[in-house]
Order: sequence, then structure tokens, then C-alpha cells
Amino acid sequence: MLASLTLLLGLPLALTTELPTCTPLVPVTFDSGTVPRLLGDWIYIIGASKYPPHLEELKVIKYAAFSLLPGSHEDEVNVTEIMRMNETCVMRNTSKIQVFRENSTLMHVDENVTATAKLIQSDKDFLILNHFNGNFPGLSLSARTPNVSKEHLEEFRAQLHCLGFTDEEMFFTSEKYACPLPGEKRDEGDAESQLG
Ligand SMILES: *[C@@H]1O[C@H](CO)[C@@H](O)[C@H](O)[C@H]1NC(C)=O
Ligand SMILES: *[C@@H]1O[C@H](CO)[C@@H](O)[C@H](O)[C@H]1NC(C)=O
Ligand SMILES: *[C@@H]1O[C@H](CO)[C@@H](O)[C@H](O)[C@H]1NC(C)=O
Ligand SMILES: *[C@@H]1O[C@H](CO)[C@@H](O)[C@H](O)[C@H]1NC(C)=O
Ligand SMILES: *[C@@H]1O[C@H](CO)[C@@H](O)[C@H](O)[C@H]1NC(C)=O
Ligand SMILES: *[C@@H]1O[C@H](CO)[C@@H](O)[C@H](O)[C@H]1NC(C)=O
Repeated sequence: MLASLTLLLGLPLALTTELPTCTPLVPVTFDSGTVPRLLGDWIYIIGASKYPPHLEELKVIKYAAFSLLPGSHEDEVNVTEIMRMNETCVMRNTSKIQVFRENSTLMHVDENVTATAKLIQSDKDFLILNHFNGNFPGLSLSARTPNVSKEHLEEFRAQLHCLGFTDEEMFFTSEKYACPLPGEKRDEGDAESQLG
């Protein structure tokens, strides 16, 4: 009896003590350096979404890399993506991101599909986006290299737990499913200089 009471009381206690680690998602305040810092190559590492169509997509993405390039004006970014969906590598180079500095919003426009996200973090190593579709939350982490430390991954997973995602609702990509880049020759010693 006493034991079960402690268990019952212990649960809310444990929950309240975990709350302080839930840092609120604060969008980045854009300045003149924000968009330039987004440019370049990124590897999509992990994502979670409660939005059913996005969730279906996350389930089949085994690997994804993307490059952000200057677009035709300063609030536009060209996107090239290469991703493995199920077994197949798909390359897309026609989509764009529209930047709304005033509300830290990025709108990805790919033919008829638009996806909107707030920029939560963008520094030299990581890109965190808070995707929103109606009231469905979504969060993704991309990084400059496929190598993300356990500590960083744990921190991000904790953030996802805070938003109400379970481990089963988090989808990781893996470098072992990497798609060859166009023109890439995997065995060559100059692979590193090609990356730069
Ligand atoms: C971005 O895309 C536009 C048209 O879609 C193209 O004219 C422009 O050259 C592209 N910029 C870069 C840097 O590729
Ligand atoms: C991936 O595989 C699933 C199940 O086999 C299938 O339903 C889905 O349409 C496939 N998606 C793509 C993009 O190939
Ligand atoms: C997109 O890919 C196509 C086919 O691979 C290529 O012809 C075209 O030049 C590419 N466009 C850009 C903007 O990279
Ligand atoms: C951000 O601002 C743009 C332009 O003012 C507006 O169209 C868009 O709805 C805003 N998005 C959000 C999420 O506030
Ligand atoms: C986009 O819309 C046009 C016209 O409605 C349609 O023909 C095309 O197939 C759509 N593209 C995609 C990728 O859904
Ligand atoms: C990734 O990390 C492993 C282990 O720390 C290291 O051996 C490897 O060289 C790293 N790869 C890259 C691309 O940084």
C-alpha cells in the first residue's frame, strides 16, 4: 500500500523535476548574418512530426543531404536536396526557401507543396527547425557533418520528449544509406577537398 502510494506520488514528482530541462523553443532573431550562416551543405540527422503527411515522409527517409545556395534576392535561398526514400535516391534542385525575417519564418516551396518552419537555431554546426502545420508540432535537426555527438543527440531527444514525442516517433537518418553525390568518386584521395 505504501509502496504503491509512493509510486503514484513519485510520478508527478518526477515529471515536475524534469520540466526545467525543457528549454522553450525560441526562434532566432534574424540579423544580416543569419541567412548567410544558413548557406552551404547540411545533413539531415533526426526529425519528428505529428503532422500525418510529414510523418509518412519521415518514415521513408533513410538519408538526406541538402545545400542552401544564394537565391535571386537576399530573402530567397535556392535548395538542392538528395535523399534516399526507401531504397531510392532522389535528387531535387528546383525548390526554394522564402525567408520572412520579421517572424523568423522559412517557407520551403517545392512545386505545389509548401512547408513552413521557424528557425530555432543556426550556428556553425547545427540547424534546428520548428515545423508547424496547423497545430501539429514538428522539429528537425540538421548538422554540417554526419558526425553528431551522443551528447548533442541526447539533448535534442530530450527536447523532442518535451514536445510530447515518444522514441518511436523520432526518425533518424543514417550515413550508411548515403546517396553518392553527382560526380563523386568514392575511392579517391581528394574526397576531402571536394567536400570543401
Ligand atoms: C537560384 O534559382 C534561380 C531560378 O530558379 C536561378 O536563376 C539562380 O541562378 C539560382 N541561383 C544559384 C546560385 O544557383
Ligand atoms: C516506401 O515504401 C512504403 C512501404 O513499402 C510505400 O508505401 C511508400 O509508398 C514508399 N515511398 C516511397 C517514396 O518510395
Ligand atoms: C538541376 O538538375 C538538372 C538535371 O540534373 C540540371 O540539368 C540543372 O542544371 C540543375 N539545375 C540547377 C539549378 O542546379
Ligand atoms: C510571417 O510573416 C509573413 C509575411 O509577413 C506572413 O505571410 C506569414 O504568415 C508569417 N508567418 C507566421 C508563422 O507568422
Ligand atoms: C503540381 O500541380 C500541377 C497542376 O495542378 C500538377 O500538374 C503537378 O503534377 C503537380 N506537381 C506535383 C509534384 O504534385
Ligand atoms: C566521425 O567520428 C568518428 C569517431 O569519432 C571519426 O573516426 C570519424 O573520422 C569522424 N568522421 C568525420 C567525417 O568527421
